[in-house]
Amino acid sequence: MTWLITGGAGYIGAHVARAMTDAGERVLVLDDLSAGFPARLPADVPLVEGSALDGDLLKRVCAEHAVTGVVHLAARKQVGESVAQPTRYYRENVGGLATLLEAVAEAGIKRFLFSSSAAVYGNPDVDLITEDTPCAPVNPYGETKLTGEWLVRAAGRAHDISTVCLRYFNVAGAAAPELADTGVFNIVPMVFDRLTRDEAPRIFGDDYPTPDGTCIRDYIHVADLAEAHLAAARRLTGADASGDLTVNIGRGEGVSVRELITVIGEVTGDGRPAVVEARRPGDAPRAVASAALAAEKLGWTASRGVRDMVESAWQGWLLHHGG
Ligand SMILES: NC(=O)c1ccc[n+]([C@@H]2O[C@H](COP(=O)([O-])OP(=O)(O)OC[C@H]3O[C@@H](n4cnc5c(N)ncnc54)[C@H](O)[C@@H]3O)[C@@H](O)[C@H]2O)c1
Repeated sequence: MTWLITGGAGYIGAHVARAMTDAGERVLVLDDLSAGFPARLPADVPLVEGSALDGDLLKRVCAEHAVTGVVHLAARKQVGESVAQPTRYYRENVGGLATLLEAVAEAGIKRFLFSSSAAVYGNPDVDLITEDTPCAPVNPYGETKLTGEWLVRAAGRAHDISTVCLRYFNVAGAAAPELADTGVFNIVPMVFDRLTRDEAPRIFGDDYPTPDGTCIRDYIHVADLAEAHLAAARRLTGADASGDLTVNIGRGEGVSVRELITVIGEVTGDGRPAVVEARRPGDAPRAVASAALAAEKLGWTASRGVRDMVESAWQGWLLHHGG
């Protein structure tokens, strides 16, 4: 097998590239470096600098490197930006995927793994979100991921490609400081950013119908997520490969914003009290995965907890932001 990882110089993609290489898989990366860094990649992983929107390049890369499987992570991922620029998000996330799938079909590649997101569910009012929970995304980013899943399954059926869609929940942490997320879009780096500026962490609403009144999420360590990709890649090359599979990738455990901020205070040594501000529109009180199907179909469960996520993310923050 030779796996093409699109977006492999990004936060999650670099973890996937490392996990697959460490497990003995041959990988190469395609990334336009709009948000990625070549330094994140192991030295022996070839990097092709280019876009998932460039069909000619994709066809050339698949042929020249004799690619036999694809892990597609390249995408734009900021919810707010997707609300302001929906056409760009549809063009890059859905258009890029369509272009890639055409190249995959033409090259006769039979294995395809797609980065989806819990954003496909929107804000369901359930205790645990299963893969059968109806999908109702509430922003263009989530819509592009749901449309992407439909496209992946349709192309899989049309061209006899085995496919897996992984719906990631809230990703945090780093397998090594140099692989850490450098963006400030998720809660862990956002709290680090506040503390670094000598400001109190913010909680958006403490009057939700949850035990401590703050929103509950399912946080997953990026190293566990990378191992889930490896498990999915192995499934795609094993006896159960045929057809399509869509699974949640979470821990199945809810952690409240207040609990998370408490852990961040312990890890950073800056436990100043958070300030409570108004609710943000669109925040669901609770979004926690059922992790049962991933365990059953991929033989994968997460092993790292929230403290591990926060400690490793903090080491990465200190490296990239100087503390
Ligand atoms: N981070 C999360 O919490 C999270 C949660 C759910 C799903 N996801 C999905 O996981 C994937 C990776 O996310 P990430 O957090 O690593 O983001 P990231 O921005 O760090 O990585 C994305 C990578 O893709 C590259 N890229 C973007 N558009 C491209 C294009 N058209 N052609 C080639 N390369 C392109 C970027 O340069 C970057 O290296 C995305 O598909 C994202 O939607 C992320």
